Amino acid sequence: MSDILRQTAEVIYQAELDALKAEDSGQKPDNWHLSPRSVVKYLLGGKNASGVTITPKYIGNQRLIETAVATLATDRALLLLGVPGTAKSWVSEHLSAAISGTSTQVIQCTAGTDENQIRYGWNYAQLLAKGPTREALVPTPLFRAMESGTICRLEELTRMGSDVQDTLITVLSEKMLPIPELNDSVFARRGFNIIATANNRDKGVNELSSALKRRFNVVVLPLPDDMAQEVDIINRRVGEMGNSLSLPVPANISDEIEKLVTIFRELRSGNTLDGKIALKVPSGNLSTAEAIAVMVGGLSQAAWFSEGKLEPADIGSNLVGAIIKDPVQDRLVLEEYLETVLKKRPGYSAWYQSINELL
Ligand SMILES: Nc1ncnc2c1ncn2[C@@H]1O[C@H](COP(=O)(O)OP(=O)(O)O)[C@@H](O)[C@H]1O
Ligand SMILES: [Mg+2]
Repeated sequence: MSDILRQTAEVIYQAELDALKAEDSGQKPDNWHLSPRSVVKYLLGGKNASGVTITPKYIGNQRLIETAVATLATDRALLLLGVPGTAKSWVSEHLSAAISGTSTQVIQCTAGTDENQIRYGWNYAQLLAKGPTREALVPTPLFRAMESGTICRLEELTRMGSDVQDTLITVLSEKMLPIPELNDSVFARRGFNIIATANNRDKGVNELSSALKRRFNVVVLPLPDDMAQEVDIINRRVGEMGNSLSLPVPANISDEIEKLVTIFRELRSGNTLDGKIALKVPSGNLSTAEAIAVMVGGLSQAAWFSEGKLEPADIGSNLVGAIIKDPVQDRLVLEEYLETVLKKRPGYSAWYQSINELL
């Protein structure tokens, strides 16, 4: 096993990408590693003609992924929008890996991101010694993506200031980046594009200017449609993450995942699944990603402290942590849910007990 804590998508799924490439007879946009159809197949999974199984990375609507891929083949950039934990970063990483063969050109946008982190910076020792030269210039991931005709990922685009966001307008409309200090410009090679992500639940975000908005095609990633789909996503991801952390995955995990998803979906929607009891909704957003994190925490606890069998007691504290984000309000919400719903529900007594002990 490799010593690297988290490999990139293009490394983990190299065999799948190679298999798709070997049989890809479709036409490709310039500088793309795969045809758009193969990119979609890589994301959604399926069988290759020679029988290689392509595992699904994204579970959800095929049309959404087709729209995302088709957008990247045009001169418009792609903005993946959605509440936290709807696989925006995940899809962005896999799209970049499949299209450009690399997913590592990433800029994490924050309130402290400035223009130098978007355009280019300077190596000050070189700058002082030789003045502004190409050698003194420090390219950003965006700069390198333009030069190499690949995809640059911008994570949480709306967290950086609007003035800095607007730096992207020239890049997206003219497909070039002026370097006035050198009286030069970088011209984007074919294949260059941007995938940005943004979430619509953030406080203190900076709205995209309408000039910038026009340059993006927005694809909204939704929370999973139904219970079965959500259980499937969590099952797969927990299995994969358990393997990569060398944690044994107990046989009863699917049952426990189903119960966890039931609790999450009920609290998220403010109704029991049968629609009979109205519930208060906690302040956090209880995403699929959070359910995955709760289960992986439970797996670890079970593996190290409970001889490998997964009990609700192993999951309880992670679950309470995920639900109670506001120590006063959310605690009341959870207490009420426990007493009115879980206490009486068959099959949930161990869940009721372990959560109750923690409150
Ligand atoms: N529809 C889905 N299909 C596959 N995985 C999903 C889906 N929804 C959520 N996930 C999982 O949730 C996790 C977190 O997603 P992430 O991309 O970090 O969320 P976001 O960037 O939207 O906040 C990932 O491990 C991803 O596998
Ligand atoms: Mg993200």
